[in-house]
Amino acid sequence: MKDDQDWIPTRTDLDWIESLAAELGPELLAIEAAAEPEGVPIVDRHSGRVLSVLAAGRRRIVEVGTALGFSTLWLALGQPSDGTIVTIDPDRSRTDRAREFWRRAGIADERITVLSAPALEAFGRDEPALAGPFDLAFIDALKPEYQAYLEALVPRLAPGALVVADNVLWSGRASGARASRSDDERVVALRAFDAAVLRDTRFHATILPVGDGLLIASLRD
Ligand SMILES: C[S@@+](CC[C@H](N)C(=O)[O-])C[C@H]1O[C@@H](n2cnc3c(N)ncnc32)[C@H](O)[C@@H]1O
Repeated sequence: MKDDQDWIPTRTDLDWIESLAAELGPELLAIEAAAEPEGVPIVDRHSGRVLSVLAAGRRRIVEVGTALGFSTLWLALGQPSDGTIVTIDPDRSRTDRAREFWRRAGIADERITVLSAPALEAFGRDEPALAGPFDLAFIDALKPEYQAYLEALVPRLAPGALVVADNVLWSGRASGARASRSDDERVVALRAFDAAVLRDTRFHATILPVGDGLLIASLRD
């Protein structure tokens, strides 16, 4: 029995789950293939599948950190077919390519609005597209800014909205399972963010050890 209690999922389990799941569409595969050689950081497939499930029934989504649009596409495929996404990323060379992938995946242009600006600047100038209310917010940009993104998002969330944040385990560095420099700004910020959100009385929150760690917080009524 102790052996069972000590067990944690292995690569074999993850591969087995992947073998059971529906195959990725050609556009998701194309984004993965484009991101890898260029070192563009994107969520892994397991996290993408979680995002898609969480997007079900959530019509209005906001995302911080678009890159090539991989997570955006998982969200768009999971949400209702008339759902909308506002996604923020200052790197136009990435988001222009993302737009092409979304088009090829059959996502209507009107469904996804890209804001080409640093997120805190866009929130600060009260961009109309960011008025909300949003049913789901996905955070995946600058790690030291996660808490500031969250605070900018809270007034823009609908009751019962979900906030999801990627990389909160930072490959084991947040917990200390892997060593990091004590002054690594991203590690320090992610540790503080994780601790703050898990104890934040505005939310029910936990961390799924999926991909690089997905924090999921549900706004209390
Ligand atoms: C980890 S990638 C996003 C990956 C994407 N969510 C996915 O999984 O497909 C982070 C992105 O954040 C963008 N970024 C950098 N600074 C930003 C800022 N201040 N506000 C919003 N996005 C920013 C980068 O250009 C980069 O494309």
